[in-house]
Amino acid sequence: MTLDLAIRGGTVATASDTTRCDVGIKDGRIVQLADTIEGAAREIDATGMLVLPGGIDSHVHLDQSSGPGIKMADDFESGTRSAAIGGNTTVIPFAVQPRGHSLTESVANYHTKAEGNCFVDYGFHLIITDPTPAVLGQELPALVLDGYPSFKVFMTYDGLALTDRQLLEVFSVAKEHGALAMVHAEGYDSIKFMVDRLEREGKTAPYYHGVSRPGLVEREATHRAISHAELIGVPIMIVHVSGREAVEQIQWARQKGLTIYAETCPQYLVLTADDLKGLNMDMSGAKYVCSPPPRDATNQSAIWQALQQGVFQTFSSDHCPFRYDDDAGKTGPKARTSFRWVPNGIPGVAARLPILFSEGVSKGRISLNEFVALSATNHAKMYGLYPQKGSIMVGADADIAIWDPKKRVTITQDLMLDGCDYTPYEGIEVVGWPITTLLRGKVIADKGAIVGKKGDGAFLKRDVTRPI
Ligand code: URP
Ligand code: ZN
Ligand code: ZN
Repeated sequence: MTLDLAIRGGTVATASDTTRCDVGIKDGRIVQLADTIEGAAREIDATGMLVLPGGIDSHVHLDQSSGPGIKMADDFESGTRSAAIGGNTTVIPFAVQPRGHSLTESVANYHTKAEGNCFVDYGFHLIITDPTPAVLGQELPALVLDGYPSFKVFMTYDGLALTDRQLLEVFSVAKEHGALAMVHAEGYDSIKFMVDRLEREGKTAPYYHGVSRPGLVEREATHRAISHAELIGVPIMIVHVSGREAVEQIQWARQKGLTIYAETCPQYLVLTADDLKGLNMDMSGAKYVCSPPPRDATNQSAIWQALQQGVFQTFSSDHCPFRYDDDAGKTGPKARTSFRWVPNGIPGVAARLPILFSEGVSKGRISLNEFVALSATNHAKMYGLYPQKGSIMVGADADIAIWDPKKRVTITQDLMLDGCDYTPYEGIEVVGWPITTLLRGKVIADKGAIVGKKGDGAFLKRDVTRPI
């Protein structure tokens, strides 16, 4: 058998092991792992490099409808281009159901946006905003079976928040059909109360976004979501956990024997509430408005500790980009009147892996194998893509990121190749950088340039198997 490609001389790491070996690729799959592989049609010299599974980012928002006058900065083309340059080979964005609309139709709309436009492989989570009897009884079960075994529900945001009764209904569909509910856990009424009060006091700068959603608001909703999951007897995933209060709830639930999964994101490791102050409380704080908001150094430490203790299964970007200097973005006419109207979300799909690698592996806080688990393997396992995706093993897709673990890079917006006009991580120096990204054996990004083409990425039907 002549191999199409051999990656030679590198150090291969999976979620469990690190080995010096060559990787042989044929027809887009890994077919050989051996001391030395010779005679392939092409070779990549990976001497001194790490050969890791391509990143899987299971929490990104692309071309998502975001309310009147607001436009997301990335469509599927620019968002997946940015993913590829950041060492990722799969993303799982969201197909959101606008209230009053069919879930199935919404999924079809997002397929139209994505098809032929992606640089990396993709699946879809659903976002359920209107759990009607038809959605709960027919559409959702059919979609779960058809390759969409995960969905997000919100406990806050106008137009998205579900009531407690609705949460219980969707959790019970998840239980019946083996799907995974991803929960945005922040308390809607508490936030509305805080926003109104802050505005009455004239506190409208972006900084007050963080003040309006303190850790206890996240803690209360996390506890409530866990209690609902316990009542139904179903595992759930708490997404974008920002600090100690929510972590404690998850630990408490696990001690009770409940299966509660959790995700955190780079903003909770390297940003703080002070970033929302901008320059003298000006609008530039809007660049950091996301929910839950970044907190303080103590909470950053709590998130690191939780990462080290295995509280989190996945580390995702929650890439949700809005341009800063743009009427349809962070500084539109309404957003300038109050933080209430600043679109929530920040970009990060390209910066996610370098930040975790540098702050985690290079600084000795987590092992290389933990990095692989948090950035790829566990996403594949959690969301029905394993063993096709998420590891370097014979039979898996040859989705690989070749990393230079010593390369020093200062993160700047021009390196991100996304559709945004800023990165919240501007100026952060990282050690370790993805040099080459291969999707199913094809080089799609190399030395800072995209060499794949849109359309290289394919839709992934996922299944309900969840081996963790
Ligand atoms: O602020 C954020 N995180 N926006 C994205 C939507 C979400 O809640 O994940
Ligand atoms: Zn969310
Ligand atoms: Zn999100």
